[in-house]
Amino acid sequence: MAKKNIGKDFNIYPMPVVIVGSVVDGKPNFMTAAWVTKLNSDPPLVGVSLGNKQHTAKGIRQNGEFGISFPSVDQAVLADYCGLVHGYDENKAEHVEIFAGALEFAPMVWECPLSMECKLTQTVELPHDHFFIGEVTSVYASEAILSEGSVDAAKLRPFTLTMPGNTYWALGERIGEAWSIGKVLLKS
Ligand SMILES: Cc1cc2nc3c(=O)[nH]c(=O)nc-3n(C[C@H](O)[C@H](O)[C@H](O)COP(=O)(O)O)c2cc1C
Repeated sequence: MAKKNIGKDFNIYPMPVVIVGSVVDGKPNFMTAAWVTKLNSDPPLVGVSLGNKQHTAKGIRQNGEFGISFPSVDQAVLADYCGLVHGYDENKAEHVEIFAGALEFAPMVWECPLSMECKLTQTVELPHDHFFIGEVTSVYASEAILSEGSVDAAKLRPFTLTMPGNTYWALGERIGEAWSIGKVLLKS
């Protein structure tokens, strides 16, 4: 079958869904983000790309710290809400039980089973978005999502976003072991 050039408007399939927290003008604020990725193992770095006008982005620029919380499917409504309205219009923190780790300006969402606090190390100013790179200083997990001390994805029950179509999806079936099933194609 032929390949069709469908232009240059692209998406990543699927995208993670997280809630980013920062303190803006002294008040905690939360927004949903899908443009987030792990960047470096040591030191552990994470990157999140936020529109430079986002209220949360203002807080990160002000204080150099932010939190990232991973909702499970049980927090899908809360996550969607945090992506619907701006913190300068509505106090989203009213709907969130906030918890703090060691950092002063990295608010995290207690309801989310997995969170991390980050210290800003670098900001890449793109034409529309600011890509914030943070060093992860601590990760906090609810005991209920751990198996033998590590995060168990089946217990975390994260969900993803696909676009176009603006749809959330729970994890699907397990298809095999990573760094393993491809071995059938090795020459020796
Ligand atoms: C599922 C989802 C993913 C989103 N991902 C991003 C993102 O990666 N970057 C971004 O700037 N906005 C993203 N948004 C939009 C912001 O969450 C939204 O504009 C929010 O109101 C910003 O809040 P704030 O101004 O209080 O920071 C997303 C929204 C949703 C619902």
